[in-house]
Amino acid sequence: MTDSKHLNQISWQDFKALSLGEKGVYFRSAPSHTLIAQQFSRGQLEELCVLATRIRRIAKRREGGNFLRTLLSDKRAMLYFAQPSSRTYLSHNAACQILGLVTLDVRDSKTSSEVKGETPEDTIRTFSSYVDMIIMRHPVGGFAERVAWMLSNTNRPISVLNAGSGADQHPTQALLDIYTLSRSFNKIGGIDGKSIAFVGDLARGRTVRSLAWLLTLYNDVKIYFVAPEQLQIGEDVLELLDSAGMEYEITQDFAPVMPKADALYMTRIQDEWDEEGASSTFDTSAFSINAEHLKSLKETAIIMHPLPRREEVATDVDHDPRAMYWRQMRNGMWVRAALILTTFGRQDEVNTYYDNYKPEN
Ligand code: CP
Repeated sequence: MTDSKHLNQISWQDFKALSLGEKGVYFRSAPSHTLIAQQFSRGQLEELCVLATRIRRIAKRREGGNFLRTLLSDKRAMLYFAQPSSRTYLSHNAACQILGLVTLDVRDSKTSSEVKGETPEDTIRTFSSYVDMIIMRHPVGGFAERVAWMLSNTNRPISVLNAGSGADQHPTQALLDIYTLSRSFNKIGGIDGKSIAFVGDLARGRTVRSLAWLLTLYNDVKIYFVAPEQLQIGEDVLELLDSAGMEYEITQDFAPVMPKADALYMTRIQDEWDEEGASSTFDTSAFSINAEHLKSLKETAIIMHPLPRREEVATDVDHDPRAMYWRQMRNGMWVRAALILTTFGRQDEVNTYYDNYKPEN
């Protein structure tokens, strides 16, 4: 394990001024946090992928499921989702259930005492009185980091998992994306050497921002950013990729990229971030895929999407074996179970059980 520091050893101002790469060292020691994609090493990603597969296999049998439910039955988790969510909320909730954690939730700030004027910080501090972990989605970028820092300076320093913050980070989505890529390319050399095309609204998609960084941890990966000019990937992401020596190409022309990509990562227009309906002025029809396009793709290619989708992936693609987005979504439950277990430092119990039990497939 590399060095770790505690969030109660640094002021908020000094912490905020750190680069993303420098922050990760503050999230490792108990209570550990998952806040930004930049905190992960390749080794940690690989361990999480192996653990996710072990949990998935163990859960197939009733006695395995019963074993898993004992692991964190002494813990409670708060699901605080101040923005809409289907997959991230449900898969974290299901992951908690797999491990026996009891969950509480607030899914709308209007139902909490924030409407009486309580600050978001006091609201979170209140949650921390009742649970051992907060899994949170919030519209304000960086707020999950602020929460982790704030709680670390109280007598209830509990773990925080960022389930989507502003338009900047969605680290657990990036983990499930890596798990999906890793499983899909298992028989063709893994993620190393692959070409990944991000397509659609790359300016405001937090999943792309987090995943693009994790791809820098693999060898000889090439990224294509395919988007209309107004929705292209941000300079801040490109600077991070440059600092990591990542090869990438920026284009508005989707057709020539299709046959080159090992994975197409489609995204929808994120018009919830629009100012004055700006998205309605963009023509995004060229950044979509339907059954006609499938013949241009490699046989081993996969089509991913963080979902929800609109028209950028036609439903006639769904039955193609390369359409991976439904499996990708389910993978989220397993990798989040692995992450939560690791957050509480209980992963060795699964590894020991698995070694003795050796479930098939
Ligand atoms: N991918 C994703 O974050 O989906 P939800 O918004 O439904 O959670």
